[in-house]
Amino acid sequence: MTEQDLYYADYLQLERLLDAQHLKSAEEGAPAHDEMLFIVVHQAYELWFKQIIWEIESVMSIFAQDTVDEADMGTVVARLRRVTSIQSLLVQMIAVLETMTPLDFLEFRDHLFPASGFQSAQFRVVENLLGLRRQDRLLLSGAPYTSRLSEEDRRRVEKVEELPSLFDYVERWLERTPFLYHGDFHFWEAYQEAVQRRILADREVVATNPNLTEEEKEMQLEEFEQTLEQFEAIFDPDKHEIERAAGRLRLSHRAFQAAVFITLYRDQPALQEPYRLLELLMDIDEGFTTWRYRHAQMVTRMIGRRVGTGGSAGAKYLEKGAERSRVFADLFALSTFLVPREDRPQLPESIVESMHFRYEA
Ligand code: HEM
Repeated sequence: MTEQDLYYADYLQLERLLDAQHLKSAEEGAPAHDEMLFIVVHQAYELWFKQIIWEIESVMSIFAQDTVDEADMGTVVARLRRVTSIQSLLVQMIAVLETMTPLDFLEFRDHLFPASGFQSAQFRVVENLLGLRRQDRLLLSGAPYTSRLSEEDRRRVEKVEELPSLFDYVERWLERTPFLYHGDFHFWEAYQEAVQRRILADREVVATNPNLTEEEKEMQLEEFEQTLEQFEAIFDPDKHEIERAAGRLRLSHRAFQAAVFITLYRDQPALQEPYRLLELLMDIDEGFTTWRYRHAQMVTRMIGRRVGTGGSAGAKYLEKGAERSRVFADLFALSTFLVPREDRPQLPESIVESMHFRYEA
């Protein structure tokens, strides 16, 4: 080996990386065996957060262009899929940490105050890149989520919060989706008619069903009324705005229509990659929600009903946070508004033509 040869440990800077595990308990004179695991697991999380930020930022730079090139969609989908694979690891790593028992944790927990995962700046950057908003967050003892960060971390996290998020970019991209209005074809109006036809037909079946009691009929007809009202919330732009203002929907009306369109006609060649993207965004959203619940369960197991080292109500705070931290909730809500394949409005031939890839010799 010559001096110029690249050496494994130098390339990976292992000297620095492997010299970064200092046990607080050892410093205090009573080394706790499991504190090494605690540190390594947290550091592994931070490395993976770094990779997730790397992937999401690269995807966002593609979306930041005025139009997203078809050829770039494959890259976007591949990188987001990588994020979901990392998320599976993040969830699995909790099981590794759970090999530490609550009693073992108590051997060094007191040395950790007031530090907490609550102060993970990279985790906050990921949340902000995806598009979690301040109003979606819980306060910790009345203070915002940035209150426990160092000045430097707070600046980094807040800077990302001010920039457009992946949610914003995806919303704009959805708003640009062609095909929704094409010649005489108005997708949203055609869809509204299709939905009404289906609901009216189903209602007729209930109303004339001799096997139902009057009470059962009344109950089921009431359900139809509720379904109709839900649909009105998306078909009427003013009602859609009311839903948005109340925080029940987040996507703009046009973006929501496009998401429904892509979901309904995802078999069309030009919509397959866009549909995959929508699915991946849901996977990522679900991946973090799963992690949050899993983390909250582990916390209950480790510290029961104690308060956290960061000062929160512990597991209760985390469970509440898990419910509120969804960025792409609209894509999940969208299923409420789907109709079976056979009820979809027929697409005009010209649109179907333009959604097919053609190979010319
Ligand atoms: C024994 C293991 C752990 C315990 C008992 C624990 C406990 C807690 C508690 C109680 C909180 C709420 C804030 C507070 O009062 O401190 C919290 C927040 C948090 N923890 Fe953990 N944690 C553990 C491991 C981890 C690991 C391995 C990570 C990975 C980075 C992590 C990341 C986070 C994050 C990101 C938050 C903020 C969540 C939010 O505010 O939405 N925790 N943790």
